Amino acid sequence: MKKEHLADYVLSIPDFPEKGIIFRDITSLIQDPDGLKDSVDGLIHSLKGIDFDLVIGLESRGFIFGTAIAYEMHKGFVPVRKKGKLPRETVSVAYDLEYGKAEVEIHKDAIQKGMKVVIVDDLIATGGTLEAACKLVEKLGGEVVKISVVMELAGLEGRKKLAGYELESLICYE
Ligand code: PRP
Ligand code: ADE
Ligand code: MG
Repeated sequence: MKKEHLADYVLSIPDFPEKGIIFRDITSLIQDPDGLKDSVDGLIHSLKGIDFDLVIGLESRGFIFGTAIAYEMHKGFVPVRKKGKLPRETVSVAYDLEYGKAEVEIHKDAIQKGMKVVIVDDLIATGGTLEAACKLVEKLGGEVVKISVVMELAGLEGRKKLAGYELESLICYE
């Protein structure tokens, strides 16, 4: 049965992956045909009126939504990957996680100067991952014209890190 709200497809798992975290699980959303369709359609709707050349998806959950959007809108798809996965010359950005550090990369020839790009991920929490992706795009001379995500954990204030970018989420958790 089709659910009334997109958020109804998302399962919330307490204490995963560690105590105190409520994990917002997209697997229940994407395994439902209506959940998958409505979330991808919602993201596509968020890009209405935006002129862009390319979709960037963030490993790994951002790949699911990013490729669907790129396919449907007949744009190319470029992956931002965790360090050490891309085979050709890359640029990279290191960023802080709640505990420790991470590094993401993009192929150097993936974006030409002046290209307008849209960045897609499943979720914004602290905003560190999306901020790093914006830096990668800009290192290559691209312009981030929109960031679209399925879910936003507003209490973590990731939006503050991304002030200056147009950011839209389909579901907002306080
Ligand atoms: C999760 C999620 C976002 C990121 C958000 O990815 O998919 O990409 O965390 O967190 P932030 O806003 O605090 O940076 P994760 O790195 O857990 O990996 P995955 O997508 O491969 O599951
Ligand atoms: N990534 C970072 N925080 C998360 C959360 N609470 N649920 C799902 N993915 C996340
Ligand atoms: Mg992720």
